Amino acid sequence: MKSTRPILLQPTRLFLAFLLWLAVLLAAGPAVAQDQPGNIAMGKRFALNVCAECHFVTEDQEGLVRADAPTFDDVANMPSTTQLSLRVFLMSPHARRQMPNLVLSEQQMDDVIAYILSMRRE
Ligand code: HEC
Repeated sequence: MKSTRPILLQPTRLFLAFLLWLAVLLAAGPAVAQDQPGNIAMGKRFALNVCAECHFVTEDQEGLVRADAPTFDDVANMPSTTQLSLRVFLMSPHARRQMPNLVLSEQQMDDVIAYILSMRRE
């Protein structure tokens, strides 16, 4: 009898595929960091709509935010922040942390990351 297991839907295979994807991304390191697919202006708009409820996402933002959420300027200028670290943060469940698990499309993720990294001072 033929096996009808849907190969790609097995959780362990999915996880392995994810690890492989991450490894490829890491191996591509500097190239990926320079070649930013996101659109900064779109990322800013998205951040103002979605992230500004808790974060200061621009320098001149008005209104209340959550005191425990870092400003995007702070995030951008942490030494540990890279395109990859932001990606991993936004894709991982923040189990015991305060930030909700937001589901972003690929494009929204690229855009908002490009926007955050554009605030980097170097
Ligand atoms: C409901 C409130 C809330 C919203 C909405 C929110 N955040 Fe956060 N975020 C937090 C809080 C609180 C923290 C600090 C604690 C933590 O890391 O969970 C945080 C931390 C972060 C960090 C820092 C991670 C680190 O390495 O310390 C990043 C990056 C971030 N948020 C990005 C975003 C982006 C991008 C959006 C919009 C797509 C967003 N957040 C929307 C509350 C929020």
